[in-house]
Amino acid sequence: MRGVVNDTKEKPVCGIAGYVGPADALPVLLNALHRVEYRGYDSCGVAILNGRIETAKAVGYVDDLRAAIEDANGAASGAAAVPGSLGIGHTRWATVGSPSKLNAHPHLDCTGRVAVVHNGSVENHYPLREELRARGHRFRSETDTEVIAHLLEESGGSPDGVAEALARVHGPYAIAVLFEGSDAITVARRGSPIIIGLGHGENMVGSDVPAVLDRAHGFLHLEDGDIATVTAANVEIRHRGELVRRRVHHVNWGPEDVDKGGYAHFLLKEIHEQPRVLRDTLAGRITTDGRVTLDLKLDRRTMPEELFFLGCGSASHAAMVGETFFASLTDTRVQALEASEAVRPKRRGPGAWSVLVSQSGETADTVDAARDARRAGHFTLALTNVPESSITRTAHATHHLRAGQEISVASSKTYLAQLAGLYLLGLALYPPAERPRRKLAAALRKLPEAVQQALAMSPQLEQLGTRLAAAEHAFIIGKGINYPTALEGALKFKEVAYLHAEGYASGELKHGPFALLGPDTPVIAIMPRDDTYDRMLVAVEEVHSRGAPIIALTDCDNAELQSIAQSVVCLPPTEPMFTPVVGAVALQLMAYYCALAKGCPIDRPRNLAKSVTVH
Ligand code: F6R
Repeated sequence: MRGVVNDTKEKPVCGIAGYVGPADALPVLLNALHRVEYRGYDSCGVAILNGRIETAKAVGYVDDLRAAIEDANGAASGAAAVPGSLGIGHTRWATVGSPSKLNAHPHLDCTGRVAVVHNGSVENHYPLREELRARGHRFRSETDTEVIAHLLEESGGSPDGVAEALARVHGPYAIAVLFEGSDAITVARRGSPIIIGLGHGENMVGSDVPAVLDRAHGFLHLEDGDIATVTAANVEIRHRGELVRRRVHHVNWGPEDVDKGGYAHFLLKEIHEQPRVLRDTLAGRITTDGRVTLDLKLDRRTMPEELFFLGCGSASHAAMVGETFFASLTDTRVQALEASEAVRPKRRGPGAWSVLVSQSGETADTVDAARDARRAGHFTLALTNVPESSITRTAHATHHLRAGQEISVASSKTYLAQLAGLYLLGLALYPPAERPRRKLAAALRKLPEAVQQALAMSPQLEQLGTRLAAAEHAFIIGKGINYPTALEGALKFKEVAYLHAEGYASGELKHGPFALLGPDTPVIAIMPRDDTYDRMLVAVEEVHSRGAPIIALTDCDNAELQSIAQSVVCLPPTEPMFTPVVGAVALQLMAYYCALAKGCPIDRPRNLAKSVTVH
């Protein structure tokens, strides 16, 4: 078993960028911030050192900052508006202090000679603020981050000074700092990830790989407790005062992976990437006769006696699909739980397995659930898309989803990769007899094709999505393994298209929500021809009698449906247990086109950020 328990707590997510080298820092920083903007986008700013530290900040997106700088300097000049080749930048998802120019990072000390950008939370910022005030420091913002700038003002910029200041801070952090008079960016980490990108004669800092992608040939992750001094020519890392080396990773994806590739939005691009993602996530992991190889070695002597699947948001919907799939394979007790609601598990031996489903590996509630499960003696397995994440550091073992970077805040391809990961895990732990195993394996291997066919139905789904833009409320109903598909579809409509959509178990609709049905409340019914179909048909007939328009997502041409549903979408058929994959794709596309018709900011929905690292 591998992994260390990492006791990080809350870690607000934001984007960090830093540059030191021969180029003008401003355009490099703005491009880098643009690429990590999915981490937070309520305000942003840069600090550039050119003799003295200059800052520029804006409320809103990086493009707003770019425009504000151009306006201030006269758009026509084209000159570097904030000159200098050493700088740091930040794009924020507000936690302490509302989104405003004053609260945007970088934050300066009293003298203006120290500038800090920060991901994390200073849990003791109130007492520190009082203490610093008593010593004459004056604060400009409401943020917790600003105390770090003032502590650094007192302790100085040497690695020892930085360590001394950070020793006063309770809570996780990743910081990048400029000190006037220095030719370096100082970087430190405890609990929040930060990387250093290695270039030729230049170096970068980033909250994650996209920040350094276009200039770095390699990158390294700082470990908790590291303090790095990054100049154009050198990276020096100290841990508890000693010089240390960290492994260099190679950047194996290019700027095109974080570009829209000709699509209007990242979400649309990522939806269309799904056949490839399924191929990648299944590659080398399942044979034609259904034998599965996972990233972890399974020890037959320690098979699970009970299984818990935990995740938040879309990942919790994937966990629910996993629960039903496993229940079709085994009598072992299996339970899907929302990680944010899960109570601390009872002490058990390693026969209890907790499977943590998380695209980012950084969701605070899921990381906590992993830690609690591990403390309770469970065997913990992470299903994640980010191998170097908090969850992989916490769990005993990891299965990597291989979905590639997902930029759109709303998940799409990572949801499908999570489903595929759970299917593989089920088949690995509880392989059925040879014939059904071969059948499931063949269907799983054909899923990319089925998804491709579902994508080919875009014109019809676009029409339906566009029509839904007129609705204020909608229901999405499903049953059995497609009840979570209904929840996932409703989540997509809510977050991307701001449509109040409720995912409901079809049999529950008559126990109350019928009161809401009428001609203005469309109902989308997910009803593949499996053993739930007849009951779904009854539910749809009941809905029809209440006058609500019905969109049926099915996989067969069916006369009875044609007569009651306003629209019938015939999706490509697959094995009943895999229908959530195809259903999710149809709902993603409908939500996307609904959002497009409404003019919503599709890749960056209001109030959200890509990973939720706060409780
Ligand atoms: C919805 C969405 C979120 C995430 C949730 C968990 O489109 O993206 O609901 O699924 O925040 O995130 P991860 O999987 O990173 O733990």
